[in-house]
Amino acid sequence: MAPRLCVIEGDGIGREVIPAAVEVLRAALPGLETVWAEAGWECFLKRGVSVPAETLAAIRSCGAALFGAVSSPARKVEGYRSAILTMRQELDLYINIRPVRSLPRVSPRPGVDLIVFRENTEGLYAGRERLEGDGVAVAERVITRWASLRLARRALELMKTAGRKRLTIVHKANILPLTDGLFRDTVRAAVDEACAAGQTVEVDELLVDIAALKLAVEPESFDAIITTNLFGDILSDEAAAWCGGMGLAPSLNWGEGVALAEPVHGSAPDIAGKGIANPIAAILSAALLVRHAWSLPAIADRIEAAVDRALAEPPAGPLTTQGMTKAVLSAMAAGT
Ligand code: IPM
Ligand code: MN
Repeated sequence: MAPRLCVIEGDGIGREVIPAAVEVLRAALPGLETVWAEAGWECFLKRGVSVPAETLAAIRSCGAALFGAVSSPARKVEGYRSAILTMRQELDLYINIRPVRSLPRVSPRPGVDLIVFRENTEGLYAGRERLEGDGVAVAERVITRWASLRLARRALELMKTAGRKRLTIVHKANILPLTDGLFRDTVRAAVDEACAAGQTVEVDELLVDIAALKLAVEPESFDAIITTNLFGDILSDEAAAWCGGMGLAPSLNWGEGVALAEPVHGSAPDIAGKGIANPIAAILSAALLVRHAWSLPAIADRIEAAVDRALAEPPAGPLTTQGMTKAVLSAMAAGT
């Protein structure tokens, strides 16, 4: 059956990079069926809701979505909730997969090939923030055994398929012994379970501060990182530097039978509409859908190889969204 994709451009450069990625997907998967839907800040301004019910229904019915980026106000706006957070919660997209590898020519350093598995539904994103009197604001950080366990089990399955063998648990259990202690112990229990079933996994752990330093100075020493929601958010942006920057870092939000691919970058309003946004992160995110949601690894490899080729030999002249997209399409047509 032909894969079906719900396409959500969102705000800002999402409107440029997502159509580019869809073009590449169409070339790789000629039968691809697309359903276009709305979400984001513009959608909220227009319709009073950042993710309309029909958008959620379209994602559910396709089982796969490609999402651009949304703008969000930095202060509370009555009735507004971030579109991406809404979709993660509503669709229970509990694992966020953020691979980082050295890309030809644009990466500042060769030899990096790591993946961040980020818990995607709880932690400091649980939405439990409130004012307690004047001048006191409190946020609760929620860690549960079941969310940590399902995250770890899925991460371990993915490591098995990808042939990754070393898992680093990143936490702050020295000051958060109950929450991060629970996270760490649960991941360790899942590793024991996987090893008992015959998988080879070496596990170690790092406090998040030292992990951030190590990621900056010795990124090639990591294979897979598993961590809680906010730590994963921060560390994946940091790690994106090794891809060559935010314009090149892909991600996949994944639950049971539903996946939403999304470049790690934001809506970049400063460059929106200029045709110069880098489509590579969106294209690589689409490749994650192909690999994981549609289980078509050979086609995902083909897209990724074409991206590498396009980056290694970029088009002459000033780089544009269209120029890079064409370069990826021709590399794919040339079968690289
Ligand atoms: C990300 C983003 C989001 C997050 C924002 C846009 C809510 O930074 O996907 O990493 O914090 O998770
Ligand atoms: Mn982020």
